[in-house]
Amino acid sequence: MTGTGLHPIVAAAAEGDLPEWSVAGSERRGHVRRVSALMGEWAAALALCPDDQARWRATGLLHDALREEEPDTLRLHVPPVFQDLPDSLLHGPAAAERLRLEGVDDGEVLQAVAFHTVGHPSLGHLGRAMYAADFLEPGRDLLNEWRASLRGRMPGQVDGVVREVLGARLRHRVDRGTVIRPETVAFWNVVAGERR
Ligand SMILES: [Fe+2]
Ligand SMILES: [Fe+2]
Repeated sequence: MTGTGLHPIVAAAAEGDLPEWSVAGSERRGHVRRVSALMGEWAAALALCPDDQARWRATGLLHDALREEEPDTLRLHVPPVFQDLPDSLLHGPAAAERLRLEGVDDGEVLQAVAFHTVGHPSLGHLGRAMYAADFLEPGRDLLNEWRASLRGRMPGQVDGVVREVLGARLRHRVDRGTVIRPETVAFWNVVAGERR
């Protein structure tokens, strides 16, 4: 069992159980389990306290809990500031809002879930690890050698790894000529500014 200070949804997610309101098929469940496992591996390697290790695993599991809900439905439930997000990005803020309404008041976990795709300048250790884990989990079949090399640098070099992942994502969007969210640019400016 993990710590008694954790919200029951967080404690259950740390043990691999998604809330009953999740909308995720079997492939998605596989993805979130792998992300959760990676987060747990990193948290253990960092020798975080048991509750923090549970929070890291839970965040990995919960981040895509609403990934397969209809965007029109998600849009009804996200706070006004997220109303202009494109369909594919609504699930993060929507899951965070649902968790908040369920009584989860762990701001760091909520922030990590809300901004796992868009990024945000205020993401700290947990949020940055979440951002990296979503991209680096081994079940994705994409740029496998590069991603394996980045996994090999985790969790010790989380900031450098996030800089590489975020930089690649930004370049991809620029190459395609697509809009880049201001939160994403601000996230980049923070991580780039930390470079020594
Ligand atoms: Fe996601
Ligand atoms: Fe994901």
